[in-house]
Amino acid sequence: MRKGWRRWAVLALGQVVSLLVAGAALAQSAAEPEGPYPQTLLKPAGPQAETLYEAMAWDIAFITFIGVIASIVTAFILIRFKDRGEDRVVPQTHGDPRYELVAWLVLIVGLVVMALHPLPAEAVFERQPEGEAVLQVNVIGHQWWWEFEYPQYGVYTANELHIPVGKKVAITTWSEDVIHAFEVPRLGGKNDSLPGRKTRFWIEADKPGVYQGQCFELCGASHARMLTRVIAHPQDDFDAWLKKQGTPAPEPTTDLAAKGKQVFNTVCTACHTVDGTKRSPNTGAPNLAYMGARTSIGGGVLKNTPENLLQWLRDPQSVKPGAKMTVSVKLGSITEDDAKALVEYLESLK
Ligand code: CUA
Repeated sequence: MRKGWRRWAVLALGQVVSLLVAGAALAQSAAEPEGPYPQTLLKPAGPQAETLYEAMAWDIAFITFIGVIASIVTAFILIRFKDRGEDRVVPQTHGDPRYELVAWLVLIVGLVVMALHPLPAEAVFERQPEGEAVLQVNVIGHQWWWEFEYPQYGVYTANELHIPVGKKVAITTWSEDVIHAFEVPRLGGKNDSLPGRKTRFWIEADKPGVYQGQCFELCGASHARMLTRVIAHPQDDFDAWLKKQGTPAPEPTTDLAAKGKQVFNTVCTACHTVDGTKRSPNTGAPNLAYMGARTSIGGGVLKNTPENLLQWLRDPQSVKPGAKMTVSVKLGSITEDDAKALVEYLESLK
């Protein structure tokens, strides 16, 4: 076997392996995402996410096309101009302006096409929806949870954002401490939440579902535990949710819940409220209206179950390091019995 053979066999093998790896990675990420609430850009669930996905798919196709052409040209050159041990000089083209020109043109056209093609997509993101028909939501970042205000309805909630399906939701976001970023990948919208400055963007969900997001800007100890869920309902269900959120908290129906309410009013109301029409007295503490109806607690860290809520009240730091909760069994501000009564009360708010 001639000496040059092995070298390009290795090169060709390298090309094939890298194409296979890229293909496998793409197939893997496009496959049905795992877990109940996947955070992926590859399963768009709204027009923004769809636009983003199309722009990305186009990029990948274009880059793959260039990669294939480059591989073919490389293979051609390797074979055509291989050292065959002959005493010959191949035509020298270095410095030939014709070749230089073609190379530059291909490069420039390719880069211009890549730079310009996402512009229509960007226009989709820029067009902030306006008017009465649009649902306005203020998204306020806190260490480490999200506050949601519906200014048109005077309603507040935390960590789980309810929206109607098929309607543009105009979001105004800011932060009350450090920089956070709100993103729900399957709905496409993403924006920094900045202290002292309001910025705007919008999201929309095509079909009902629960879409999970994650704070996207490193914001301190529990940044990774600052999750959010967008719950998209059909319009009627959303209206019902909004109406309920604006009505006073239901009265306790058991003795334990009644005791829980008493504890709540004694130790929790300095910071929290169960009134969905008010901001919390301490704006750094989440609104707890209809907490029993939420799917998660602790800013999306734990499933909302009585056991998990009890764990949270015993020792919030064990669930979420740095959490600003000052009331806990561990700190001695409530007893284990108080905590159990609080769990009964808060979980009864549905
Ligand atoms: Cu908030 Cu990271």
